[in-house]
Amino acid sequence: MKKKIIGFGASISTTSINKAFAAYALGFFPEYEVELVDLNDFEVPVFSVDCEKENCPQAVRDFLDKLKSADILVCSMAEHNRNWTVGFKNLFDWCSRLDLKLLQHKPMLLLSTSPGGYGGQNSLNIAKTIFPAFGGNILTTFALPKFHENFDPTQGIREETLLAAFKKQVEDFKNQLIKEN
Ligand SMILES: Cc1cc2nc3c(=O)[nH]c(=O)nc-3n(C[C@H](O)[C@H](O)[C@H](O)COP(=O)(O)O)c2cc1C
Repeated sequence: MKKKIIGFGASISTTSINKAFAAYALGFFPEYEVELVDLNDFEVPVFSVDCEKENCPQAVRDFLDKLKSADILVCSMAEHNRNWTVGFKNLFDWCSRLDLKLLQHKPMLLLSTSPGGYGGQNSLNIAKTIFPAFGGNILTTFALPKFHENFDPTQGIREETLLAAFKKQVEDFKNQLIKEN
């Protein structure tokens, strides 16, 4: 049976460029069963301890189950005001109340992109710093700057140097996977 790799953009935008980037990254793993997850399929109210007292939405358990079902995770961090998007943080907070190690220690390729020149690296760096405390097992990272200039919706990364750098990170990720197994 093929191992399963799940990808998602850390955003609830229906036109998320990070979801598009995660989908592109999944294409580099033909040896796996791949699934692109949309955070909008796990809609939850804004977290508060008061709201939590009422009940924990089923979508929280569903998202945790989805993460558990994966052998590998590809997560592309969107950035709002140099931080995570509210939609992702909200789901993350809900999940952390049920399972502090929500990322399940699954090997992770951590990505980010944004229309700006820093490519969402503030958001990526926060994830890189704190994910390990939440069961994150980040093997490799890559930030794609200036998404709209450097990414073609049908062909993917169009700038040669960036494409080479991305491929190198994917290769490095796969090599680390071999070492882990
Ligand atoms: C409120 C807001 C704040 C933003 N702040 C940043 C920022 O700090 N850094 C950045 O690179 N892009 C920023 N952007 C642009 C986002 O990176 C861009 O909207 C991107 O499409 C978000 O990713 P997504 O499409 O995957 O949701 C911001 C956008 C919004 C709406």
